[in-house]
Formats: sequence, structure tokens, C-alpha cells
Amino acid sequence: MLLENRVAFVTGAASGIGAAGARALAREGAHVVVTDRDGPGAEAVAGGIRDAGGRAEALALDVTDDPALAAAIAGAARRHGRLDILHSHAGIQVEGRLEDVGVADMDASWALNVRSHFVAAQAALAPMRATGGGSVIVTSSNSGVQYDRGMIAYCTTKHAVLAMTRQMAADYAHENIRFNALCPGFIDTPFNRGFEIQMGGRDRLEAYVASAIPMGRFGTVDEIADAIVFLASHRSSFVTGHALVIDGGECI
Ligand SMILES: NC(=O)c1ccc[n+]([C@@H]2O[C@H](COP(=O)([O-])OP(=O)(O)OC[C@H]3O[C@@H](n4cnc5c(N)ncnc54)[C@H](O)[C@@H]3O)[C@@H](O)[C@H]2O)c1
Repeated sequence: MLLENRVAFVTGAASGIGAAGARALAREGAHVVVTDRDGPGAEAVAGGIRDAGGRAEALALDVTDDPALAAAIAGAARRHGRLDILHSHAGIQVEGRLEDVGVADMDASWALNVRSHFVAAQAALAPMRATGGGSVIVTSSNSGVQYDRGMIAYCTTKHAVLAMTRQMAADYAHENIRFNALCPGFIDTPFNRGFEIQMGGRDRLEAYVASAIPMGRFGTVDEIADAIVFLASHRSSFVTGHALVIDGGECI
């Protein structure tokens, strides 16, 4: 196993990519702290990991609560004596162009898609430094490396968090604390409901994906989980400041 004796902390892990990543990290031997603002959902994922013979605990955590987020990461590191992996994953997608998006929704996008990653990474530094390194994976999007139509709040914040990830990578590479951005394309999870509505329903979304994505399909959460394991493990030991785009060729 790639992650034996490692401790991982995952946000937004009750559903979709976060949950699949948490399960995959646990399958490789990590103890996973499964967190989500949906506490029962986090407990269900952690319970599933334990039922499968893995090690996990659940925590109800809204990542926009700065003190709670910092305390949860510090507490996990204290309880387990180390923190090796942070997958800072929770995010929000607000649709609309400049004239459609209110200031409150723009602020909410910054709070979740940028600020929460800043607070989480800051809290992870000390425990990672104490054990000589670690891997921080920040979920951006392929919307962090290209522009979507009518997605000003999402594209702006996903670009910003990619810039922040590269900056953190540059600042801490010499301490063996690696920072990489996960940049998925269309992955079939509840996250795309808003875009589905914007497109005019599931059939239209599927037709769009079939025509706009060179590989002609959605990605699966397991295809992203493989990348999470890669970025979390020594398999990517010389990779930092990287934007790992996994999108079936969408942004070619
Ligand atoms: N699914 C995709 O197609 C796709 C593509 C690119 C990027 N992403 C990114 O992946 C992340 C989520 O995608 P997913 O597919 O896993 O979504 P999902 O909807 O399946 O799961 C998101 C989880 O985040 C939790 N969450 C939401 N707000 C939270 C908060 N404030 N604090 C804590 N938890 C919170 C939700 O309860 C939910 O369990 C986002 O950062 C998104 O930008 C998704």
C-alpha cells in the first residue's frame, strides 16, 4: 500500500470526488479524517471505509468557518501525531455573467473557493513541517486553466486558487511540503446540478458533454481518485505547483 501510517484530512468528503478520494486514500492505508458540512454524510463515508477494513473518522465541518476549520486540522494532527495529506476540496459553483452575479454570491465564491483553501493550508503547515513534509491537494477545476461562458464567479475564483497553490508550492518546496491543484473537467456528481439547470435539463447536459468533451463522456469519480492518490503519495514526490487537468481533453 502507498499510504500506510499516513494521516489524511479531506474537506467536502461526504459526496462526489471528495468521498471517492477519501475511500481511495483509505484503500492505500491512510487514516482518513472525512469532513463535510453534511455531518451524517461524512459519517456514512467514514463508516463505509471502516466496514471495508480501512481507518477513518468523520467530522461535521463547514470550511467557511475559519476557526472551526483551523481547529479541526490542528486537532486531527494532534490526535494522530501527524498530518501527511490535506485534500482541501469543498467548492461552490455560482453561474452567471458579470451582470447576473450579485456581490454576495461573488463573496461566497471567494470564501469557499479561495479563502477556505488558504485557511486550511495555513493550518496544515506546522504539522507537516514537524514530520519533514506533506502533500496539500487543492481542488481547483479545469475552469482554473480555461474560461467558461457565463461563469464569472467560478472561473475567477478557480484561477485565483490555482495561483495561490503555485505560490505556496514555490514558498515551501524546500521544506518538502508539496502543493498541487486538482483540475477536473465534467465529473458526474451532484455538483453539476446548477449547470444542468443552466443548460435546460439532464438530456441537454448529456448532449453537451457528448459533443464538447473530446472523449465524449463524463469522467468518473474513481478516475479523479486515482489522481488524488498519485498526488498524495511518494509516486508524485518531485511534483509541486502543478495543475493536474483531468478532463477528457476538454481544454485541449
Ligand atoms: N464534479 C465536477 O464536475 C467538478 C469539476 C471540476 C471541479 N470540481 C470541484 O470539486 C469540488 C466538489 O465537487 P464534487 O463533484 O465532489 O461535488 P459534490 O456536490 O458531489 O460534493 C460536494 C460536497 O461538498 C460539501 N460542501 C459544500 N459546501 C461546503 C462547505 N461550506 N463546507 C464543507 N463542505 C461543503 C457538500 O456537502 C458535498 O458533500 C468543488 O471544489 C468543485 O469546484 C467538480
